Amino acid sequence: MAPSATTATSATNGNGAVTKLAKNGYANGHTNGHANGNGHATVTKGTNGHRNGKEAKLSSTELIHLENEYAAHNYHPLPVVFDRALGAKVWDPEGREYIDMLSAYSAVNQGHCHPRIVASLVAQAQKLTLSSRAFHNSVFGVFAEKVGQVFGYDMVLPMNTGAEAVESALKLARKWGYLRKNIPTGEAIILSVADNFHGRTLGVISMSTDPTARTGFEPFLPNVGPRFRDEKAEGGERLLRFGEIADLERALELHGPRVAAFLVEPIQGEAGIVVPPAGYLRAVHALCKKHNVLLICDEIQTGLARTGRLLACQHENVRPDIVLLGKALSGGVYPVSAVLADKDVMLCIQPGEHGSTYGGNPLACAVSITALQVLLEEDLSARAARLGEVFRTAVKALNSPLVQTVRGLGLLNAVVIDEERCNAARRARGLDVEGAKRRTAWQFCLLLKERGVLAKTTHGNVVRFAPPLVIEEADLLKAVKIIGECLVDLDTREDRDMPTEEEH
Ligand SMILES: Cc1ncc(COP(=O)(O)O)c(C=O)c1O
Repeated sequence: MAPSATTATSATNGNGAVTKLAKNGYANGHTNGHANGNGHATVTKGTNGHRNGKEAKLSSTELIHLENEYAAHNYHPLPVVFDRALGAKVWDPEGREYIDMLSAYSAVNQGHCHPRIVASLVAQAQKLTLSSRAFHNSVFGVFAEKVGQVFGYDMVLPMNTGAEAVESALKLARKWGYLRKNIPTGEAIILSVADNFHGRTLGVISMSTDPTARTGFEPFLPNVGPRFRDEKAEGGERLLRFGEIADLERALELHGPRVAAFLVEPIQGEAGIVVPPAGYLRAVHALCKKHNVLLICDEIQTGLARTGRLLACQHENVRPDIVLLGKALSGGVYPVSAVLADKDVMLCIQPGEHGSTYGGNPLACAVSITALQVLLEEDLSARAARLGEVFRTAVKALNSPLVQTVRGLGLLNAVVIDEERCNAARRARGLDVEGAKRRTAWQFCLLLKERGVLAKTTHGNVVRFAPPLVIEEADLLKAVKIIGECLVDLDTREDRDMPTEEEH
């Protein structure tokens, strides 16, 4: 069939990769983000409020204003605009360079714009982007075999985002519970733990214990989450805590026959990089086996070499019944997520019972195959394990009184800022620390940004440091040096010299 009226021209981006830029009525006159010769994004900027006039680059301030004005306020970003990135480095529209210590919440483990992954994206995009699962495509089967082989599971259920993978696992576990465990229809329970984070969809927030995630979104899905009935407990209900094996023991003792699955993050990411006691996951696995309950490990943040192993559960030699992957499964290049399980579980779902138009699309599969190859061939697990030690040792060596704790595994780490101590010390020096003058971990992140390091609080006073695993050791140590300087700044800077959210 003849191509449509759309024509394409070739252009070279900053990495030398050839891209095809569509030249049609849609792109012209609208905001677009072509890669130009020096790798900078440009947008067309007009005078009448629309970006349809002469070409000019928008400043960080202008871009942030556009987001605030025209996009939902469902995030509270740090005031920095990513325009270009490579490896562990990021540049804003003004050309300022930063060391990325967040990796898009562990999605760019392989480094920003990894040339091999980007090349796979471009090559596949020029060939076939979407077949839908109404038909087969020439990449999905290859991806399915590869991801199964790498992680040691029979089958994959492909999805797009992390939350979708979790939702899919909830459905799969319920189906398994009815078909294989003979739980009476409508009674299956899926247990999780307090302070979990598995995404933002309704089914997923039904399991959350975070009021910000839940309030105003009621009613929730029944029979999922960390609360379970216990007549002996106060109020007749108990909360299953992370890292407390006795809680799961009690829940399964009381409700085991109706429990289809237990869902857990091997390390709680959004809760503040909470590492459970050694042996916890192994004991969880044994309890699940004893009660014929599926163990689902959400490795969306912890997986894919981040903690020094391909999966964090491998630190305890645990093989879950279901593994959830997302984020770095594409190296940050495309949304790809996956549910992994063996046939006896996966085949509980039959044609027509679950799906997604984009799940398993050729672009996602091509990108993901290369993203996995990069993880393995560059041995990023070993690199994460080694650099993680370097990071924790160097931060501890700062000997800052404002560092309450340094914890983590591999390159998934948290530095807990002792805000109380900082404010008490300042108060003792006669300084005002009330209201906006209080020194916080958030302000610490603004100071880091000012000095060229990007990190964010994950939970109150906990700052997560999770750089791309390809980060150079020298850059990691430079980041630690800046962390040290900013800790001093947090205590000693004059109020008038503190960075504000408006400064870019
Ligand atoms: C452990 C975990 N599960 C699930 C998700 C949700 O992933 P997504 O934002 O792609 O839906 C996240 C995201 O941060 C996560 O950390």
